[in-house]
Amino acid sequence: MGFFKKHKLSHSVPDVVPGHVAFIMDGNGRWAKKRGLPRTAGHSKGVKTFEEVIELCFNTGVDTVTVYAFSTENWKRPKTEVDFILKLLDEYLTISTEKCLKKGIRMRIIGDRSIFPEKMIEKMNDSEQRTAHLRYNLNVAVNYGSRAEICTAVNKLIAEGKTQVTEEDISAHLYTAEVGDPDLIVRTGGELRLSNFLMWQAAYSEFYFTETFWPDFGKKDLYKAFEKYASTHRRFGGL
Ligand code: IPE
Ligand code: IPE
Ligand code: MG
Repeated sequence: MGFFKKHKLSHSVPDVVPGHVAFIMDGNGRWAKKRGLPRTAGHSKGVKTFEEVIELCFNTGVDTVTVYAFSTENWKRPKTEVDFILKLLDEYLTISTEKCLKKGIRMRIIGDRSIFPEKMIEKMNDSEQRTAHLRYNLNVAVNYGSRAEICTAVNKLIAEGKTQVTEEDISAHLYTAEVGDPDLIVRTGGELRLSNFLMWQAAYSEFYFTETFWPDFGKKDLYKAFEKYASTHRRFGGL
């Protein structure tokens, strides 16, 4: 018996996991470039990573996952790259409802969807409606920018006749009104910034930054982020 050492599982499931984790899925282009591939190959691999990571999160006890898929600033990229990303989004939307129904995931799209083709908007609405009763929450941020989101919220409040607003008013008019604030925000790809993601909602979020490019992000990285989160004392301004 003593011959066989009991191997500690390399990545044991963390005891404490965030209820809501958000991902800034960055580094697809650099991942591809490092391999001599076109940037678009990084985006394709990024979709696979996204599917694996959300599955891991929900299996580990996370309730809500929010991912940054396309920002209001990403339109500045070459048209070929933008078109490719939107094609991937459209393909995902085509299969997402069935996948989410199977896995008990409620899907929401956050961001200004009005800019997308009618067919895509229909898929977004359909996916949201048909998964609305499910337990886990997946929020996909597309054509999303925090500043635009806050301006839209304030304009809605003005249209409602408000001349003074409260924090609750603003929170209730954001795309994330039903989604809530993230406990943990993970950014891959080595940059230490928010890039216009959930600025209002991140007031008391914990942050985890890693050099790992999004397509390489896996269980080991995720559990490391959760372990770091578990070891942090969140004071929310108190003691
Ligand atoms: C993130 O990866 C995906 C999107 C912004 C759509 P990038 O495409 O920004 O990859 P890098 O940061 O250039 O490597
Ligand atoms: C943030 O990544 C947006 C998404 C991951 C969708 P970017 O690559 O667009 O951010 P910057 O340009 O480095 O700030
Ligand atoms: Mg980037």
